[in-house]
Amino acid sequence: MTPGHIWTLPLLWTVIQTEAKSQDVQVTCFYARDCILPCVFAPVGGELVRWYGPGNSLLVSSGQNDPQDQTYVGKAVLFEDQVALGNGSLLLQHCLPQDRGRYRCHVTGQQEAPDTTVTVRVEAPMRSLVLETSRLSGYEELLCATRNVYPAPRLSWSTQPPTAKDALRQTTHKRATKGLYTLESKLRKLRGKSSVTYVCTVTAAYGAQTWRASLRETEVSSIKGGDLMLPCKAPGDLRDFTLTWSFLPADHPLLILTYNSSTQWTAQEWAGRAQLDGLRVKAGDGSLKLQNLQNSEHSGTYTCSFKAHRNTHVVHIRVNVTTSERAEAGQASSSWWIAAVVVAVLAITMAAVIGILKLRADCSQSEKRMEEATVMQPIQDKTDTEISSENFHLADHQCDGHT
Ligand SMILES: *[C@@H]1O[C@H](CO)[C@@H](O)[C@H](O)[C@H]1NC(C)=O
Ligand SMILES: *[C@@H]1O[C@H](CO)[C@@H](O)[C@H](O)[C@H]1NC(C)=O
Ligand SMILES: *[C@@H]1O[C@H](CO)[C@@H](O)[C@H](O)[C@H]1NC(C)=O
Repeated sequence: MTPGHIWTLPLLWTVIQTEAKSQDVQVTCFYARDCILPCVFAPVGGELVRWYGPGNSLLVSSGQNDPQDQTYVGKAVLFEDQVALGNGSLLLQHCLPQDRGRYRCHVTGQQEAPDTTVTVRVEAPMRSLVLETSRLSGYEELLCATRNVYPAPRLSWSTQPPTAKDALRQTTHKRATKGLYTLESKLRKLRGKSSVTYVCTVTAAYGAQTWRASLRETEVSSIKGGDLMLPCKAPGDLRDFTLTWSFLPADHPLLILTYNSSTQWTAQEWAGRAQLDGLRVKAGDGSLKLQNLQNSEHSGTYTCSFKAHRNTHVVHIRVNVTTSERAEAGQASSSWWIAAVVVAVLAITMAAVIGILKLRADCSQSEKRMEEATVMQPIQDKTDTEISSENFHLADHQCDGHT
C-alpha cells in the first residue's frame, strides 16, 4: 500500500459527507469565449483549492504541484491571488462544445467547505435567421437557414392562415463544422395559394431564444395614372422595429424609405411619390401609398421588410401597372376605325383612279378602233363619239360596251 491509498479512505469519507451539502451551480459558457466557474468559501487561511473535470481528473490545484490533466494545462486557470480571499473560481478559456459537463471544486483546509459542483453547458447562440425564396429551385421553394449554432436548434414551418402539417413538404439538413451547426430547411410553396404567409420558427435547444422569420408573396395590378395602396402589416404586436420599403424593377433594389419605430424617423428616397400613414405605421401597419403610377417605371417587385429583435417579416408585392383596360380597348377600336376608314378611302380612291385610267385606256382604245372603223367605214354617226367622249367618266358601260 502506497501512502496515496492510505489517504483515499478519509478523502472518500469527506467527499461522501460533503456531497449532501454540496452546492450545484449551472453555468452557460459561450462558444470560443472565456468562462468563470464559481467556487467561493469562507477563508480561514491555508486552504487548498482543487478542481476536477468532467472525467473526474484533477484539472488544477492551488499552491501545489499536483499532477494535472495535460489537456487542461493553460486552459483551466485559478486566480491564485484570489484563493486566500475565499475565491477559488476557475477560469476556463476558449470554451468549446467538448468542455461541457460537470466540474467540481474541492476546498481543503482547517474548516471543511462543501464541494461546489458546476454544470457547464456551452452555447453558440443564433445570430441570424434567413428566410428567402430559393433561386435554385426556380423560386418554387423557400429556404430558412441559420448558421454556426450550438447546440442544434429546433426548426419548424407554419403558415398564416394555418395549413395542415402534412401539407407542408419540407426537408431539413443539419451539418456540423468545427462543432457548430448549420441548419437549412427547404419548404415547397403551396400550390394555388398566392397570398399565404410562410413562417419559419427556430428555437434554441436551451429554450431561451426563439427566432421567427416570415415571408409573404402577393400580387396587385393597377391602372396607370392612379394611386395604389401596397398592404404590409407586421405580425402580432411587433415592437421596436425598422421598416424598409424597396423596389426591384430589374436586378438592383432601389430604396424607397426606412422607418425606425423607436425614433419614428423616416428616411424618404421617393418623397412625393410614396407615402406611409404616420399614425398607422406606429401600430405596425406599414402599408405604402404609391402616387401617380406610370406603367414602365412603377411595374416590378416591391419589398416591405420589418426587422425587429429575433423577428423579421418580409412581403414581396408584384405590381403590374397597366393602362386602363377600357381606355386601352377604346383606343384600340378607335384606331382600328381610323385605319379602316383610311384603308377604305384609299381603296375607293385607288379603285376610282384605276377605273378612270382603265376607262380612259378602254375608251381611247375603242376610240382608236372607232377611228379605224371610221377610216375603214367613213359612214359613221359623229354625234355618238362626241357624246361618249364628253360623258365617258360617268358611264363606264358606254366604253365597256365597245370592248
Ligand atoms: C473571483 O476572481 C475573479 C478574478 O478577479 C473574478 O472575476 C470573479 O468575479 C471572482 N469571483 C467571486 C465570486 O468573487
Ligand atoms: C432606430 O433608432 C434607435 C434609437 O435611436 C437606434 O438605437 C436604432 O439603431 C435605430 N435603428 C436603425 C435600424 O437605424
Ligand atoms: C400585366 O398585366 C397585363 C394585363 O393583365 C398582362 O398582359 C401582363 O402580362 C402583365 N405583366 C406582368 C409582368 O405580369
